[in-house]
Amino acid sequence: MCGITGVVGKPNSNVVEKIMAGLEKLEYRGYDSSGIAVVCDGRIERLRAVGKLRNLKAKLEQSSLSGSVGIGHTRWATHGRPTENNAHPILSENVAVVHNGIIENYKELKFDLQKDGFIFETETDTEVIAHFLQQKLSEGFSPRESFEKLLKTVEGSYAVAAIFSFLPDTILAARRKSPLVVGFGENICIGSDLSSVLSCDEVVYLEDGEYAEISENNALFFDREFRPMNPTKQKITENLENIEKGEYEYYMFKEIMEQPSAIRKTILNNKITENIFGGVSRILILACGTSHYAGIVAKYWFEKFLKIPTDVEIASEYRYRSPIIGENVLVIAITQSGETIDTLEATEYVRKCSNSRVIAIANVKNSAVSRIADFVFYTEAGIEIGVASTKAFTAQLTILAELAFHNHDFLTKQFQNLPTLCEEVLDLRAEIKYLAEKISSASSAVYLGRDTLYPIALEGALKLKEISYIHAEGFAAGEMKHGPIALIDDTMPVICLCPRNELFEKTASNIQVALARGKNVIIFTDSEGSRLLPSGTTKIILPKISEEFAPILYAIPLQLLAYYTALLRGEDVDKPRNLAKSVTVE
Ligand code: M6R
Repeated sequence: MCGITGVVGKPNSNVVEKIMAGLEKLEYRGYDSSGIAVVCDGRIERLRAVGKLRNLKAKLEQSSLSGSVGIGHTRWATHGRPTENNAHPILSENVAVVHNGIIENYKELKFDLQKDGFIFETETDTEVIAHFLQQKLSEGFSPRESFEKLLKTVEGSYAVAAIFSFLPDTILAARRKSPLVVGFGENICIGSDLSSVLSCDEVVYLEDGEYAEISENNALFFDREFRPMNPTKQKITENLENIEKGEYEYYMFKEIMEQPSAIRKTILNNKITENIFGGVSRILILACGTSHYAGIVAKYWFEKFLKIPTDVEIASEYRYRSPIIGENVLVIAITQSGETIDTLEATEYVRKCSNSRVIAIANVKNSAVSRIADFVFYTEAGIEIGVASTKAFTAQLTILAELAFHNHDFLTKQFQNLPTLCEEVLDLRAEIKYLAEKISSASSAVYLGRDTLYPIALEGALKLKEISYIHAEGFAAGEMKHGPIALIDDTMPVICLCPRNELFEKTASNIQVALARGKNVIIFTDSEGSRLLPSGTTKIILPKISEEFAPILYAIPLQLLAYYTALLRGEDVDKPRNLAKSVTVE
């Protein structure tokens, strides 16, 4: 949610292009509006635009904005509508700030600042930061002192950066619960993630409560007690090519196509050696969205193969409902970004209330979840930019499958075939593209699956909703007759996941029931020619795979179906409306 960036350049240089390059990498975090502010001849100049970054770019082309130090922002609106007036950077007299997060006590602060004569021009919570800093400067405090006073006063979550009209070579930046890195390269930069400081080769990850004062040649770091500190710089080892679209039109498609290699690397780099489940009497999975669906698949696997009772909880609900945690619980937090606030808070809650061990499954290295967990399994999917999660999901499932099957030789041997089978599914994309035409004009769709394919039905529906804006719901196929069947008519696509497994006959009969009420039934199956699968339906035949691995394989055609449907409807699949990749607000 929101991306922030900043660059300190050489005297008389112009950092605007570099800030824009950083914002381009951060646009996945929000695209309601964007803006840049720079210090120029003792003044702060800024440019802002509503909507995607290209609108700001167009404005920049018509402007002469230039400065040797600057900050930039790409917004996912929380407080205040996505208007130009609410776009960051937010100004007070001699200060400009960008902010990612939420200032929880902004109303009290606003009240005090208004009493002191400050006039608020935006609907944002961020404006209190700018005016607070200005108030302290006016009272005679230095920028650093003012910044420290700010950090002592504001409550909530933030990654924040400020520039000052009278400091042509300084950025002050701090974080609490929202990510922030300081990069070292040709310039010293700040950014919400590694991708935004990519001209840098070394980086410092700021921890909660820490702040940095960055100047042209130097960065000073301060701990949460504001004592100087000397953090270790880490080399950036991420593969930069991964974050380019290359030959692909959309990141989402590139990321779908990368799944065989993401799964291959994930298998290679995650060997389950220690006895993770020794003494564990219950597993508690905490996650949101797509990661939550990966957790539901894992519940089926863990209970079947590990024989350990497993609960899967929506992280945003968990800590607010007085849950009973119990003894010997192993917590598994699943999060692509590693920074979803709901998942982090729920996990921290369990940590505080119990002595449970916490493992995390994350895609982004060094992300916030790694500071909470005792151990992190990293999915090796590479940076995922498309807002709709694809390769991270199947990589999460791969690690969860490794955990579930690690004591079952007949299953562990089959991991090696998985990437090749995924390639075979990807080769069916022309068929799936054609299929998209059958659903692209629908106003809603239903996805059905049983057992581990039930969460895949939920995930398929979420993918379609997110990027095509067709209303879609996933159901356990056997549950359909208990109500959802009322939705089915001739126009509604019913998308059924029906691999040959113990429940094949039962799912096939659910399909018959759907077909008796609707005309647009689509079946994904590996059972070509089965008499149980009715004619008058559209069938996509997937490769045969042992039933335990089916959820990984069946997720892929549903991603492709959502992708092609959204394309047919003319949507921007990488930047669906109202969404952002990392959800760092509750
Ligand atoms: O980064 P996380 O895995 O914690 O994110 C959780 C959800 O916000 C995320 O999966 C979301 O549902 C995606 N947009 C799904 O495509």
